[in-house]
Amino acid sequence: MKINKVIGYQVLDSRGRPTVAAAISLTDGSTHTARVPSGASTGMHEAKELRDKGSENEEKFYAGLSVQQVVKNINEKIAPRLIEEQIDLNVVDAHLLELDPSVDHSSLGANATLAVSLAAAIADAHSQNKSLARFFNPDGPLLIPMPMVNILSGGAHANRNMDIQDLLIIPVGAKTFTEALSWIVAVREMAAKLGKEAGHSTNLIADEGGISIPFKSVDEACEFVISVIEKVGLIVGDQVGLALDVASTQFFESEKYNLTNINKSYTSEEFVKYINNLVSNQPIISIEDPFAEDDWSAWQQFMTIAPKKLQVLGDDLLTTNLVRLNKAIDQKSANAILIKANQNGLVTSTLNVLKQARANNFNTVVSARSGENEDSWLSDLATGWSAGQIKVGSTHGSERNAKWNRLLEFEAVEKTKFLNPFN
Ligand code: PGA
Ligand code: ZN
Repeated sequence: MKINKVIGYQVLDSRGRPTVAAAISLTDGSTHTARVPSGASTGMHEAKELRDKGSENEEKFYAGLSVQQVVKNINEKIAPRLIEEQIDLNVVDAHLLELDPSVDHSSLGANATLAVSLAAAIADAHSQNKSLARFFNPDGPLLIPMPMVNILSGGAHANRNMDIQDLLIIPVGAKTFTEALSWIVAVREMAAKLGKEAGHSTNLIADEGGISIPFKSVDEACEFVISVIEKVGLIVGDQVGLALDVASTQFFESEKYNLTNINKSYTSEEFVKYINNLVSNQPIISIEDPFAEDDWSAWQQFMTIAPKKLQVLGDDLLTTNLVRLNKAIDQKSANAILIKANQNGLVTSTLNVLKQARANNFNTVVSARSGENEDSWLSDLATGWSAGQIKVGSTHGSERNAKWNRLLEFEAVEKTKFLNPFN
C-alpha cells in the first residue's frame, strides 16, 4: 500500500495553544492522523519544537505560538518526499532523518517530524490490519502498563503553588488496570473533597488535571495524600505508593535549589541529603527529576545512598535522548527513564531509547505532556512497547481520559496482562 497524500495543519491542544496535526492518506482511501503534544516544564536538551514567534509566519492571534512554519515544512518539504512511497514506518523515519539530520530536529521542527512519524506508524499498522499496539506487539497478551497519576500539582503547571511539580500515586496493589483506575479516581475525588473541607481553595485545576493546593512543604503534601488514601480505605504502601515529580530544574538557579515556598536554598550536596531524607521518611516509591538537568554529580551521589528499591526517574535529565541515556547508564545516575516521543522527534528512535534503557535494566515510563490532545496513540505505544509504566496526568480532562479509556478498552476487548514493575 502506498502513500497518496501527506497534509500538515494546525489544531488546538488542551491549553488552547496551537499544535501540529499530520494526516497521511493511503492508496486504499484511508486517512490516518496524529497530533503532537507539547511541554511547559521542558528540558533544555529536548528536540526543538518550532513556533512562529518572530518569523514571517507569525500570527498575532496566537501570541506567537502558532505553528504555520511547521505546517509549511510538512506540506512543502516532507510531503513531496513521501508521496508514492510504500507505507512503512522505518522508511518514513529514514526520509525524515535525511531531510533534517540535525540532532534536535530544529531544521524541520520536532513537532513536524513527530507528527508525520506518528501518522506513518498508525497508517503502517492499518496497512497490516492491526491496531498500533498490535503493530508493535503482534503476539501474546497485550501488556498493560502500571499508571502513575497526578493527585496534587504545583510548579510550572499550577502557578507555582507548590515548589515541586507533582505528587502522584501508583496503585501497586491493583490486580487489573480497571481496578487501578477505580482506586485513582476515588483518591483524586477524595483529595478534592478533603482539601476543600480543610479550607484550601481547590478551584485551580492544574494543566494535567491534578488538584492545586498550596502546601508549603513536600512533607505536608505527602501527609495529606496519605490521609486521603486511608480515608478511601486503601493501604498506603501495600496498595498505593507515592511518587514525586520534583521537576527541580525549574527552581535550580545560580547553583542552588531554591524552595521559595519555605524560603530555603540548598547547595547540590545539601539537596541530595534533603531528597534522601524525604524518600526515607515518606512512602515514596518513585522520584522524578530530583536534581537539575545538568547536575550530573548530584544524581550520581544520590544513587549511591538512595534506598535500593526506589525508582529514580530521569525526565529533563535524559530527554529521551540516546546519548544522555548512555551517559546515565555509564555513570549510574538513575535507574529509570521517562519516554516522551516529542522530546525525541521520531517514533523509531524513541523506541530505540526505550530498548536501550530496558537492555540496561532501567524501568521505562511512557509519558504524555502537559499540553495534550484527544489522541490516544500514547496508550498504544506504552502497551505495544511493553513499557511497564505510563504517566498521563490526572483523571480530569478528556485529553487525559482518552489515554486511560484506551487502556480500559484493551482490557475489555483483548487478552491482556497488567504489568507491575514494583513487585
Ligand atoms: P511538561 O511536564 O510536559 O510540561 O514538560 C511533564 C513532566 O515534567 O513530566
Ligand atoms: Zn517531569
